[in-house]
Amino acid sequence: MKLLVTGGAGFIGSAFIREAIPLGHKILNLDSLTYASCLSNLIPVDNHKNYSFKKIDIKDRKSVNKLVELFCPDAIIHLAAETHVDRSIDSPIDFIETNILGTYNLLEAAYSFWVKKKRPSNFRFLHVSTDEVFGSLGKDGFFTEDSKYSPRSPYSASKASSDHLVRAWGDTYDLPILVTNCSNNYGPYQFPEKLIPLVIMNAINNKDIPIYGDGKNIRDWLHVTDHVKALILVLELGEIGSTYNIGGNNELENIQIIKKLCNILDQKIPREDPYSNQIKFVSDRPGHDMRYAIDFSKISNDLGWQPKINIDKGLEETVLWYLNNNEWLENLKSRDGIGKRLGNNS
Ligand SMILES: NC(=O)c1ccc[n+]([C@@H]2O[C@H](COP(=O)([O-])OP(=O)(O)OC[C@H]3O[C@@H](n4cnc5c(N)ncnc54)[C@H](O)[C@@H]3O)[C@@H](O)[C@H]2O)c1
Repeated sequence: MKLLVTGGAGFIGSAFIREAIPLGHKILNLDSLTYASCLSNLIPVDNHKNYSFKKIDIKDRKSVNKLVELFCPDAIIHLAAETHVDRSIDSPIDFIETNILGTYNLLEAAYSFWVKKKRPSNFRFLHVSTDEVFGSLGKDGFFTEDSKYSPRSPYSASKASSDHLVRAWGDTYDLPILVTNCSNNYGPYQFPEKLIPLVIMNAINNKDIPIYGDGKNIRDWLHVTDHVKALILVLELGEIGSTYNIGGNNELENIQIIKKLCNILDQKIPREDPYSNQIKFVSDRPGHDMRYAIDFSKISNDLGWQPKINIDKGLEETVLWYLNNNEWLENLKSRDGIGKRLGNNS
């Protein structure tokens, strides 16, 4: 397939492209290269004849329209977004403009292209979203595809808005859309403002490892490779108009995952003081959701997908990747906000 991937210089988008190129897909990566992007994530594929890149902002409707018409995609996989909850608290405007207006621009471009091509039935618009749109769970229960939307941060509210827009273009204009909502991803090439790479980077640089509140917030961790395999399946086999929840079946409190990372570092680069001595509890993020957990039985029953990567093995490999790719981390160090927890301004 000819796939237009937005946000392909980010963490999940680049993993998607690295997975899809060897499968024979032809990919155009559209990315505006924000602070969170890293084109070197694509070094494994960027010389491939089936890969190309265009620096375009999805806020720029004209350029998006032009690119879609020129490339003639069989599908659009929409991952471009502002993604860091902490930053959305400090400065929501970029989230509104990129995640809501940018998605609208892309839907308009996709729709006018699809109509011009006489509505090909095999065209797909796959929108990649988050479980955070469903809000916070109590001790029990799981998010299903029918869970009520209840976003609580500017980030999750902007993603919820984009999900609604995508579904509206499906229901109102018959655009062949698909939506996925996944849990927290981890793995190599993740920008070091997100929990796991931030912990690893601060630990090895002898800095505080900040943790919000009492550290008991629970996330369901999904390896990025499992996630992108699910996205490819949804693209190939998903039922038009459907939503699929994607989870890792790995619920862990933040403090548990940080301690696991510290234990791995104690084994890999031992020193006198255990790394966990660097853990520092900091005041909680406003509106911090307590628990996310995904029921992924629909994608499992309908499309035969299951997460395959064991969390302990996945974390160990992830730590090793960051240790072996220190240059990648060093190159990002000068970027604003790295190594800090933000969103503490109220
Ligand atoms: N990382 C997770 O755990 C997670 C979980 C659930 C859902 N998601 C969703 O998956 C998608 C990808 O997440 P990620 O973690 O890879 O994000 P990321 O922050 O690593 O990458 C986002 C990419 O989008 C690009 N981008 C941002 N604004 C843009 C704009 N206006 N125009 C063009 N490109 C722009 C950036 O340059 C970057 O390359 C997002 O839509 C996010 O909401 C992520």
